[in-house]
Amino acid sequence: MTQQPNPSARAAEVPQAVDYDEPGLLLQLEPEAARLLDRHEKVAVEWFPHDYIPYRLGRDFDKEPWTPDQPRLTGVAQTSFEIGLLTEDNLPSYHRLIHGMFGNGDGAWLNWVGRWTAEEGRHAIVLRDYLTVTRNIDPIALERGRMTQLQHGYDHDAPDTLHGLAYVTFQELATRIAHRNTGRYSDDPVADKIMVRIAADENLHMVFYRDIISAALKIEPSAAVRAIVDEVLAFQMPGSAIPGFLRKAAQIAKAGIYDIRVHRDEVLMPVIKHWGIFELSGLDAAAEEARRQLAEHLDKLELAARRFEAKMAESPFPRMAGAR
Ligand SMILES: [Fe+2]
Ligand SMILES: [Fe+2]
Repeated sequence: MTQQPNPSARAAEVPQAVDYDEPGLLLQLEPEAARLLDRHEKVAVEWFPHDYIPYRLGRDFDKEPWTPDQPRLTGVAQTSFEIGLLTEDNLPSYHRLIHGMFGNGDGAWLNWVGRWTAEEGRHAIVLRDYLTVTRNIDPIALERGRMTQLQHGYDHDAPDTLHGLAYVTFQELATRIAHRNTGRYSDDPVADKIMVRIAADENLHMVFYRDIISAALKIEPSAAVRAIVDEVLAFQMPGSAIPGFLRKAAQIAKAGIYDIRVHRDEVLMPVIKHWGIFELSGLDAAAEEARRQLAEHLDKLELAARRFEAKMAESPFPRMAGAR
């Protein structure tokens, strides 16, 4: 749903070697997964997609087909909604990956996989219902996009537990911010309310994964740091296989919905600070080297963000209110 915000555009794949006792780690983390799932179930609010859809705007498509003059959302808001929905649509692939990571774990892991999948499914439901009823996007193009997206599927290079947990922590937070800013940019109070609702779900997902990593950092600090850095350096959003993704992501960045500044300051930094990555001691040499690469990468992102902001300051492109 967003730009690929990696200025060094690292082509290298995330290392595959698992140099820690993965089944043992899952087992040791299981009580923490149970505690975090319990906390999640207490704070997650039940909500219903139909409550968010303005059905009074609905008309029959057989009597009145969709035509390009009907959309109400601005160009980039439409693009961002489209990318957001197609990304959410790919849930079967994400479920396969998450189940692959946690499927051999104990009860709490599997219960989390089920709960998380059910919650994620609601995101595509509410987005598609909204876009169909309001006619904000061509429903035929949207369905064809979904078919292409699901047949292509999604894969991630590093589905071992630590790499996977690090990736989903950043990805859930990135998705939360992208959805939230898409609603804000849309200037449609209905769209905004939907995106606030979805973003709240994504935040709770992020918090679950982030806090599991905090526990993993106590058990396998060096392996966890290496996994986190690998995932930061290679980070791409799961929608990057959507046709025209790079062009669309560039527009989304120009609009300020998700750009390098957002990625660095609102996604990477808060989580890295929360984990105290730069304060950890007793790491092995490879983890120390990874940490050095992380600092270098964050500096590069800072420079790239400043360059981008300077360019956008001269541009007439409509930026989201509050974007630098
Ligand atoms: Fe989602
Ligand atoms: Fe999520």
